[in-house]
Order: sequence, then structure tokens, then C-alpha cells
Amino acid sequence: MKRDHTMAEKRAKPVARIGLIGAGFMGKCHANAFRSVAGLFDLPVEPELHLLADIDEAAARRSADALGFPRSTGDWRQLAGDPEVDIVAITAPNALHAEMAFAALEAGKAVYCEKPLSVDTPSARAMRDAAAAAGACTLVGFAYLKNPMLKLAREIVASGEIGEATSFRGIHAEDYMADPASPHSFRTDPAGGGALFDLGSHVVSVARYLLGPIVSVNGATATIHSWRPDAGDPGARRPVEVDDRAVFLAEFESGITGTIEANWAAAGRKMQLAFEVAGTRGSVAFTQERMNELLLYPADGARGRRGFTRIEAGPDHPPYGNLCPAPGHQLGYNELKVIEVAELLDAFAGGRPAHPDFAEGFEVQRTVDAALVSARERRWVDVASV
Ligand SMILES: NC(=O)c1ccc[n+]([C@@H]2O[C@H](COP(=O)([O-])OP(=O)(O)OC[C@H]3O[C@@H](n4cnc5c(N)ncnc54)[C@H](O)[C@@H]3O)[C@@H](O)[C@H]2O)c1
Repeated sequence: MKRDHTMAEKRAKPVARIGLIGAGFMGKCHANAFRSVAGLFDLPVEPELHLLADIDEAAARRSADALGFPRSTGDWRQLAGDPEVDIVAITAPNALHAEMAFAALEAGKAVYCEKPLSVDTPSARAMRDAAAAAGACTLVGFAYLKNPMLKLAREIVASGEIGEATSFRGIHAEDYMADPASPHSFRTDPAGGGALFDLGSHVVSVARYLLGPIVSVNGATATIHSWRPDAGDPGARRPVEVDDRAVFLAEFESGITGTIEANWAAAGRKMQLAFEVAGTRGSVAFTQERMNELLLYPADGARGRRGFTRIEAGPDHPPYGNLCPAPGHQLGYNELKVIEVAELLDAFAGGRPAHPDFAEGFEVQRTVDAALVSARERRWVDVASV
């Protein structure tokens, strides 16, 4: 017999109340992911958009109405300490991540923080330690790691399907700062800006995900446009103190070497977060510009018949099937965030660490910091020394 379910029955699951700080590009993306995840993943807990904070009361109210939050505040500290908030999501500029996370951890919250974790190694280390001391569930928003194709690449590398890995070539190139008229923003803030922090942190997170720790680096940076307009006063120009491009050699703990590039002035490149891992019996290759494909080259078969195979994402690559039942129909950028919040909520409900947590965010942070030190001092730098 068909019967209608009451709201109370539908609400049998415990609720995780979300406090979101920041309602820009990433804030909208987080809100969208929290709104849609419960219908796509069978989770032990249901998220509820609860409180939104932004730079001032009016901005927060407008965004709260648009994104579906019943409450708003112009004071992020009020949100971090609000007794009704369970998970604090931080999508404010990089230089604010640390103090926001400390306040939330002190108030006993789980913390979902955008990348990069912080703006330098000491503050990232303190965030890692505060999270460990609080026993908090944390997650850093390296969402590209949530692509089912990256999980597949990791499985292929770990299983030995391409033999023993021998090299990593990684790049994250876009062109949103290629134009010298692109103004200053928090991304060019000398305290925690630059292409290496903004984009290099992503490709380092990918390198570590696929191949483990990077122990030593040797890099070079370049500022391509040394002056940019002031965003608040476009007639005025201010000098640029951060890198537009960074490249470095990386030595992994396993002994293999790699090259890593971060470039936000790469004309024509919109989302080239790309890598190749070569092994003794094959290779895997990926670019986020074609995020539903993984290229696999098995170095066997008849000579003259070998080539890269294009594997298209589908339900055989979990959790693709949660989002779409048909292969080749393709996932999108926002869906990586949905997968990310599904994993966060699952870990939060189960009292387990999520991945990548603050400990991993710290390791990424000090790898990019080491590359900056290396570029400044023109020498190899051990990551553990920064
Ligand atoms: N994972 C990804 O793919 C990805 C993509 C873009 C940005 N990010 C990260 O997300 C963060 C935000 O980037 P964005 O592109 O969304 O920036 P944005 O400028 O679009 O949004 C930042 C928001 O923070 C708010 N804000 C600033 N100061 C604040 C304060 N004191 N209190 C409360 N709110 C404040 C701003 O008003 C704005 O709404 C950065 O750390 C960035 O590195 C991650």
C-alpha cells in the first residue's frame, strides 16, 4: 500500500548544520554541494544550510537569501562560535583561513577549509596541530582529487599495472592573470598569494596523491607582469610581489623525480591541471580540461599496434554512478565538490578523518613553501626543513 511519508519520517537521519564563511566563487560551490548531496549519496547524516557569514551584514543577508541559508551574519567569529553550527566551511581569502579555523576548532567544530590550507608553513603546522588536539574532522578543498578518474589513475599506479613508476610530470596552467590589466586580489597578496600557492598547491596535492611524499625541491619563479591595477581604484597601479609562474624539480620519497609547473598567465589555458606518470610498463595521462577521460598506455601488445587507450568515466568508476547512471555522459566541476562534501559528511558522521585533512594540507603547504625558498635561494631545499 502506498503511503505518504511525513517530513518527520524523511528526517530520520541526524542533521549536520553548516556554517559557511564567504559567498564568492567557492562559497556558492560549497552551498550548491551541500544542497544537492543528500539526494545523490546515501549518507548517515543530512546537511542543513544554517548560517552564512560574509564581509558585512548586508552582503551576508543577500547571499544567504540567494543560497538558501535561514540565518546570516557580518561577523565570521559569531559563526565560528555559534552553538548550532556543526561544520564550519571556510571559503574566505587565503590569509584568513588560519584564524577562522582556529576559532572554529576551539569551539569544537568540524572544519572544511578551502585550499591552500594557509599562507605559510608555521600557520599551516599550527592548524594541523590544533585539529589533531581537538580530534576534529577536517578537510581541505583539493576537489580535483575527488574525480573518479584520479582515483582510477591512483589505482593503476599503485597496482603496478604500468610497472614501477619512473617519473611524474605535472602542471596547473590557466590564463586568468595573463592580461596585465587583470587587477590585484587576494591571489596577489604578498602574504599568501602567487601562482604557486593558488595553482601549484593543486598539482602538488595530485602528485602526492598519486606517488606519495615529495622530499626535496629545486625551483624557479617569475613575475611576468610587475604592475597590476588596484581593484579598488583601477586608475592606480601597484607593484606585483608574487610569482605568476613557478617551476620546480621534485624528488619523491620513493626516489623518482618529477617536474611541476604552476602558471596563471598561460595564454589559452583555461584549466590545464594535467599530469603524466610514466612507468616501466606503461603510462597514465590526464588533463582536467577533459576531466572525464584517463589515457592509459600499456607498453605491451604487438609493436606498431601500441597506443594510448582513452578510458571514459562511467558508473564503473565510483562514485560516478551516484551522480549519473550512464557512462560517457560526463561529470562537471561542481560535482567534484558534491563528492567532496559526501566524503566529508561520511567521515564527520563516522568520527573518521577525511582526506585530504589538515595534516595533508600542511604537507602540501610546506612543499610549495620549500619550492619558494628554493627559488629565492637558488638551491635544492629539503621539504622537511621548512
Ligand atoms: N578548490 C578550488 O577549486 C578553488 C577554486 C577557487 C577558489 N578556491 C579557494 O577558495 C577561497 C576563496 O576563493 P574565491 O575564488 O571563492 O574568492 P571570492 O573572492 O570569490 O570569495 C571570497 C568571499 O570571502 C568573503 N570574505 C572576505 N573577507 C571576509 C571576512 N573577513 N569575513 C567573511 N567573509 C569574507 C568575500 O566577501 C567573498 O564573498 C580561496 O582560498 C581560494 O584559494 C578554491
